[in-house]
Amino acid sequence: MVASQNRWSSEVGAEILAQGGNAVDAAVATGFSLAVTLPRAGNIGGGGFMLVHDAASGEDVAIDFREMAPVRATRDMYLDENGDVDPTRSKFGHLAAGVPGTVAGLWHAHQKYGKLPWAQVVEPAMRQARDGIPVSYDMALLLTRNKTRYCANEATCGYFYKPGGVPYAPNDTLVQSDLAHTLELIAEQGVDAFYKGEIAELIIAEMERGGGLIDAASLAAYKPVERDVVRGTYRGYDIVSMPPPSSGGVHIVQMLNVLERFPVAQLGYGSADGLHLLAEAMRLAYADRSQHLADPDYYDVPVAWLTSKEYAQQLAATIDMEQAKRSEDVAPGVEPRPEGIDTTHYSVIDADGNVALVNYTINFSFGSGVAVPGAGFVLNNEMDDFVAKPGVANAFGLMGGEANAVAAGKRPLSSMSPIMVFKDGDLRLASGSPGGSVIITSVLQLIVNVIDHDMNLAEATLAPRMHHQWYPDRIIIESGFSPDTVRLLEAKGHTVMQTPNKMGSLQTVGYRDGTFLGASDTRRPNAAAIAPGNSQTQ
Ligand code: DON
Repeated sequence: MVASQNRWSSEVGAEILAQGGNAVDAAVATGFSLAVTLPRAGNIGGGGFMLVHDAASGEDVAIDFREMAPVRATRDMYLDENGDVDPTRSKFGHLAAGVPGTVAGLWHAHQKYGKLPWAQVVEPAMRQARDGIPVSYDMALLLTRNKTRYCANEATCGYFYKPGGVPYAPNDTLVQSDLAHTLELIAEQGVDAFYKGEIAELIIAEMERGGGLIDAASLAAYKPVERDVVRGTYRGYDIVSMPPPSSGGVHIVQMLNVLERFPVAQLGYGSADGLHLLAEAMRLAYADRSQHLADPDYYDVPVAWLTSKEYAQQLAATIDMEQAKRSEDVAPGVEPRPEGIDTTHYSVIDADGNVALVNYTINFSFGSGVAVPGAGFVLNNEMDDFVAKPGVANAFGLMGGEANAVAAGKRPLSSMSPIMVFKDGDLRLASGSPGGSVIITSVLQLIVNVIDHDMNLAEATLAPRMHHQWYPDRIIIESGFSPDTVRLLEAKGHTVMQTPNKMGSLQTVGYRDGTFLGASDTRRPNAAAIAPGNSQTQ
C-alpha cells in the first residue's frame, strides 16, 4: 500500500511492490516519481527524512537527509547593513538554497535496505519525465497564479511554462527532458552523479552565475545520517518518530504525554474543552521548540527531558481548563541540568509489514524558484528554516533562537514529522504531512482522533483540524467547527481565527485485523492510496 500526494506516484510505488520490491524500494521509486509529478514539493533539489520499520527484526531507523548549510554559510548572512533581516534573501533566489540531501538519502536507504536493483527503482520516474505527465488542475492553477515569481528565473520558466511563459492548461502534457536526463545519470551512476559528477557541475555553474554559496566542497561534504528514532507511549500505544533536526517527533511525544493526563475521549472530538486542551498543549510545546530544538550535531537537544512523562506532568499541571494562557506569559521550559550550560509526505507498507515513510521538501512550492539549467529541477529554500536573527519569525511564523542559527554544514530545524504508532508490536498507523508549522499538530490530531476518538483512518484524516503555535497567540481552525464551540473558546480567553486554507495533507498507511489500510488526505488534490493490483496502470 502506498499513500502519496499524487496518484501517478502512488501507482509507481505500487508497481515496484508488485515487482517484488520491499517498502524501501517502493519509497525510493515514489520519491523520484514525485519529483516529476509534484514538482512543487516532490524533489531531488531538497531534503527530508525517512523512517524505516523492519518487520522481521522489529527494528526502526531514522534516516536524516535534511539539507545542510553550504560551507561558506555564516550566522548573519541574511542580515542587511543595519543588522535587520532581509525579508527575501533566505526565501527566494540562490542564497536561499541549502545543499540538497534527497538523492543521497534515497541512495543510502536503498543501498542498505532495498532489494531490487537501483536502476529499476529510478526507471519509472525517468519514464514519467521523458514521456510526460498530464498537468493537473492544481499544478496549472499554481503556475498561473505564481507566474511572476517563477518566471523571474529563466530556467524555471522554461521548465514549467510553454514558450513565452504561457502556463500549461489542465491535461496538457508536461515533458521534462532535462530532468529525465538527470534521472538517467542517477540511475546509471548512482549518488556520485549528483554530488561529484555532471549534475554537481551544473549546480555549481548556476550558483556561480547567481551568487549562491553551494560549491564543490559543500556538495562533496553532504552526508545523510542514520539517527536513533524518538520513542514515546500514549495510552498503551508505542510511538516511533523522527528525532532532531526534526522537531516533530519530540513535540508530538511531548504533547501526547500532556494529553494523556486528561480524559480526552470523554471531552469529545471538536468540543470547546477538547480544543482548548489541544491549544494549551500546543502552546507549551511550540514555546519549547523555539529554544531547545536544532541540529543535534551542533546543539545538545534535551530530547529525554522534553519527552519525559515527568516534564509532561509539570506542564499539564499548569493548564487551566477554564482559562487560556497568554503566550506572553509562557516561556520555554528550563531543563534541570546538574551543570548550568547550556514538505510532501508519503507512506509505504509492504506485504511483509515493512514500513518506509518519507517526508521531504523544498520548503515553499517550487522552493527558491531557482532551477538548475540543464538539470531540470528546482533548488530548495530551506535556509529559511534557520533563524536569520533571534526573535524574528520565519516564513511559517515560527520563533527561534541561537540554537537554530545558521552555521556552515548545519541542518536547519524542521517540522516534518514522519511517525509510526504500534500496539503490542503491530503497526496501527504510519503517517506524515506537509504544511510547515501545522505538520506537527496535524499528525498529533490524527493520532488523538484514532486513539481517543476511535475514528477510522479516513475519518481521522478528514476531520476538521485546529492549530496553535505559541506565537501568533491564537487558535486557527479549519471550517467545520460549530459557532458555539468558537464562542466557548473565546470565553476561555482564546482568539480564534477561521482560515480558508486547509491544514496539511496526511498520507497514512495502516494495518488492522489482517487488512492493510490506506488513507490519503483530500485537502490537497490528486492524492491517492493505492495497493499493488489496484493501480490503473496494471
Ligand atoms: O522542514 C520544514 O519544517 C519546512 N521546510 C516544511 C515546509 C512545508 O511543509 C511546506 N508545505 N506546505
